[in-house]
Amino acid sequence: MQRLLTGVQPSGTTHLGNYFGALRPFVSMYKEYESMLMLADYHALTTLKDHAELRENVMNAVRDYIAIGVDPKQATIFQQSSVPAHTELAWILECQVTVPFLMQAHAYKDKVAKGLEANAGLFCYPMLMAADILMYDTDVVPVGIDQKQHVEYAREAAAKFNTAYGETFKEPKEMVLRDSATVPGTDGKKMSKSYGNTIPLFGTKDEIHKAVMAIVTDSKGESPENVYAIHRLVKDESEIATLYKSNKGKYKVVKDALADDIDAMVAPMREKRESISDADVIKILKDGAERAREQAEAKMEIVRQKVGVTI
Ligand code: ADP
Ligand code: TRP
Repeated sequence: MQRLLTGVQPSGTTHLGNYFGALRPFVSMYKEYESMLMLADYHALTTLKDHAELRENVMNAVRDYIAIGVDPKQATIFQQSSVPAHTELAWILECQVTVPFLMQAHAYKDKVAKGLEANAGLFCYPMLMAADILMYDTDVVPVGIDQKQHVEYAREAAAKFNTAYGETFKEPKEMVLRDSATVPGTDGKKMSKSYGNTIPLFGTKDEIHKAVMAIVTDSKGESPENVYAIHRLVKDESEIATLYKSNKGKYKVVKDALADDIDAMVAPMREKRESISDADVIKILKDGAERAREQAEAKMEIVRQKVGVTI
């Protein structure tokens, strides 16, 4: 079986864009691989400074994945920080690549272009991600298009190490989730936490309704495009087409229908999510960490010998 690893930055409330772009694709394919789902808490540390929030975000991200149907027995779910070998390997990889190479990474470049101060963690971010991936001889890495470059960086780091020390790391392939740029937010732009235009996946019925009512509509047209664009993801498109045809100009009717349809889709997952206790999440993470640590330690023994620190 091929190995799959993906990472999630635990950075806030999961929205419909995350669901259709990342969570649902993961659920639909993870059983075809030996899968690892990693909560990238040390990556989150490059921007998040609130300890309670980071902890809460990690717990919630695990709940989200279990609620949508991931079986923790079939996928190794773990926190990046619980396998310290990741930061150890990141250091070793940082010693293989150059500063100009890291300066070309989008995450760093974008921050600098906005005039923001990038910390050294953000600068080295791609090598921590490379360590996450290379540690487990990963074959495929499902990511949104924005992360494609980071997987290329992992390949490059593997190649550099292999050239210097002999064949050690497998070169991973990205699996770009094509839908990932497409879920529009309430203002028609890409749905994103940073634009404040999200519809929460696990919101209450009222919260979902409120977010849907806030979808910006163009009063000139007969069919509200932004509402339709989200609706077609939630329900069969032929049913939607009929609904919109017979309710031309009736924006409230179609918005009510969309809110009801989102709620119906989410209800069983929300119920499951509410049944997951903190203790359940802690147990899942503990089991996952044990499995991941065992594999990581075996790999690191080889790596340490190759670089020459094993006496
Ligand atoms: P945000 O833009 O809200 O900060 P993230 O960057 O944390 O979201 O995204 C986490 C995952 O969800 C990524 O894999 C990303 O590709 C996916 N994703 C985020 N927003 C959308 C969207 N609007 N449509 C499709 N996928 C999305
Ligand atoms: N950088 C990724 C993101 O922000 C998260 C991540 C960390 C990741 N390590 C990874 C994704 C390893 C895939 C593989 O979305």
